[in-house]
Amino acid sequence: MFSPQPVGYVRSPYKKTDEIPKGLGAKHEAEGVLEILPQFEAGLTDIEGFSHLIVLWVFDRAQGFELVGTPPCDNRPHGVFATRSPRRPNPIGLTVVELLRREGVLLHVRGIDMLDRTPILDVKPYLSSVSPELLRRGWLAEAEAARVK
Ligand SMILES: C[S@@+](CC[C@H](N)C(=O)[O-])C[C@H]1O[C@@H](n2cnc3c(N)ncnc32)[C@H](O)[C@@H]1O
Repeated sequence: MFSPQPVGYVRSPYKKTDEIPKGLGAKHEAEGVLEILPQFEAGLTDIEGFSHLIVLWVFDRAQGFELVGTPPCDNRPHGVFATRSPRRPNPIGLTVVELLRREGVLLHVRGIDMLDRTPILDVKPYLSSVSPELLRRGWLAEAEAARVK
């Protein structure tokens, strides 16, 4: 194993978790900035060509973990690995954002769902490879269907 160190921090309009849209149909359109630390700037070379990025980050303000829990968008409990709960054994978040522009070490992005000053572990180009007809959405699809009834 290794000891993860942040490669940067998120600048987000969200200061508290209750400001972040949650639940079924929640839209994440907030703009923010991924501020990469200067010693990693060379790693951003050629990133401008990608429309979307995967951001791996730390749920640094989550407390402990829960292996089975009921998410805000359903009334049934699910295993943590079948949800996007912040309370995970390894508190790592993953968000796909749209890259709007780069200014040096600053990546201006849309679609953030993290709190301000969230540590960033990694950034990778998003390359969607699973065709929509092969995707199954498990309990979430059932919860969405129940909501529209
Ligand atoms: C449901 S999680 C999903 C996060 C990410 N898209 C994922 O799938 O891993 C998003 C929630 O995490 C919480 N959150 C965001 N930033 C956080 C942080 N730095 N520490 C702890 N919780 C955070 C907020 O309550 C937010 O609504």
